[in-house]
Amino acid sequence: ARAAVSAVEHTLAMIKPDAVRAGKAFEIMQLIELAGFSIVYKKQTELKPSAVEEFYAEHKGKPYFPKLVQFMSNVPIWAMILAKTDAISHWRSMMGPTCSETAREECPKSIRGLYGKDGTMNAVHGSDSAASAMREIQFFFPGVVLRGAPSSPEELGQ
Ligand code: TYD
Ligand code: MG
Repeated sequence: ARAAVSAVEHTLAMIKPDAVRAGKAFEIMQLIELAGFSIVYKKQTELKPSAVEEFYAEHKGKPYFPKLVQFMSNVPIWAMILAKTDAISHWRSMMGPTCSETAREECPKSIRGLYGKDGTMNAVHGSDSAASAMREIQFFFPGVVLRGAPSSPEELGQ
């Protein structure tokens, strides 16, 4: 029988404009790698308002939506594909709660606790499910092909 191997999972992480502007992008990348993630792709980019609306489509109509689009548009951000066992949930917990003030109180060592400003300017983004991760990875890195869990002894280095 083959040994049980935990599957490598991929997630989409973003460093948002507030953290980029504050010069914290590389510090955050270091924390990500120290936590055991591999940053398999990364790029600095800017989103037009229409792209922000597409990325956050499920939030359309929410009272904070216009503010969110304004905050995220036409300014530098970093998009990254992170790989690790349980990358999606691990990155979400490392980010901390959506609201940075809550994060500072309840999870002071989380990324949002350390670097976030408020409920909108909250330093980072992370996919919230496997389906979101797939969509968001293709949004920022169209056509990228990612290798999942090792599936042969060769890939396991045995
Ligand atoms: P959400 O998906 O609820 O949070 P998360 O980023 O933790 O997945 O919301 C997406 C973004 O929308 C959030 O990061 C910042 C913005 N937002 C606000 O500006 N105000 C709010 O009250 C909420 C809930 C979100
Ligand atoms: Mg979300």
